[in-house]
Amino acid sequence: MQYVRPSLKAEVCNQGVFKGLNVYSSAGEAVLAENCNDAVHIIFPEKLAEKASIFLNKFPGDCLFAMKSNPHPVVLETLWDCGLRRFEVASLREIEYVTSHFPGAEIYFMHPIKSRKAIRFAYDMGVRNFAFDCLEELVKIEEETLHAPDLNLFLRVRVDQTNAAHPLSNKFGASLMEAPLLLQRADANAAKIGVTFHVGSQCMEPDSYVHAIEQVALMLEQSGVEIDALDVGGGYPVFYPGMETAPLEDYFAAIEKALNDNGFADLQILCEPGRALVAESGAVAARVEMRKDAQLYLNDGTYGSLFDAGTPAWSYPLELVSTAGEGDPSKGVVAFKLFGPTCDSLDVMHGPFMLPDSIEEGDWIVFHHLGAYGFAMQTQFNGFYSETAVAVL
Ligand SMILES: Cc1ncc(COP(=O)(O)O)c(C=O)c1O
Repeated sequence: MQYVRPSLKAEVCNQGVFKGLNVYSSAGEAVLAENCNDAVHIIFPEKLAEKASIFLNKFPGDCLFAMKSNPHPVVLETLWDCGLRRFEVASLREIEYVTSHFPGAEIYFMHPIKSRKAIRFAYDMGVRNFAFDCLEELVKIEEETLHAPDLNLFLRVRVDQTNAAHPLSNKFGASLMEAPLLLQRADANAAKIGVTFHVGSQCMEPDSYVHAIEQVALMLEQSGVEIDALDVGGGYPVFYPGMETAPLEDYFAAIEKALNDNGFADLQILCEPGRALVAESGAVAARVEMRKDAQLYLNDGTYGSLFDAGTPAWSYPLELVSTAGEGDPSKGVVAFKLFGPTCDSLDVMHGPFMLPDSIEEGDWIVFHHLGAYGFAMQTQFNGFYSETAVAVL
């Protein structure tokens, strides 16, 4: 099926509102006009539609959205308008949100370790797709669904994550040694059986998917189980400074070839992008509250949207929105260290963040490509968080 990009500009009514958000023509215009006390979440709906169209039209299978990466209602609604109908969820609250806002959506409950209550409520709400990675979880699913005959069960297997900038540290997944017996056991009662894996987030090598698919093929040979579906997970990368990535199409081509080479061409194929679907269509603007030499104190930090700028120490394309006009370009660029607003000493981002030396209190820094794991990661620690979002079209 060919999905057509909707014309999002046409949706903006004459008050300049997109799905309830104020609309601006640039990030700079947005933060200066909003002039709010908190950080500002910026959504670029057209970029989001473009990425959705790539995944929906070019991935050789069906695309689920890993909604943990950005559960903002406008992001979810825009993806829905673009034709995305499948959601990968991890929690009961995510299921409740999707079922109440998007009737008819297909939900995949892919967290490998779920509470009994969550399994029961999910089944009652119509969810039939569940992941597991060990016998105990499989038994839990069977018991809590009263041995339902209509379950689609996905075994999560552990694969190599060495090419991921953000490995998921093998927290989940059956080893390839354990997998055959688990699959046989699940196959006995499932309506459909599948395998799923995650190569780690921000995976820099298309070959990681190829190796994972090859490993699954070998494992299936040993198990003697014929699966109905293969879910190649998330992990697709986006551009961050210092991380050059291949285009998504290269990943899709490598995956498609590996699927064909390993006899998976006739299965239902799924992917679960989070980051690559939403990162480039979002940004976060944080205000400078204080400058002390090469240290800037901001109104957002690692307990807010800038978690990944802290411990993993990632960097983002930066834009300075100066309140005092252009600033003095002759001052050049300086390597800054950033601090978030909370009282905790872990609320620090070492960078270095290269910003104009003209920067001063009241200026805003726009962290681009922060549409994934930014808004989603905010806590309310010390009362610092932002509910302000705008659209830039
Ligand atoms: C089960 C599952 N699917 C998909 C994703 C999305 O991964 P990414 O954002 O790297 O695409 C995650 C991320 O943690 C995950 O745990």
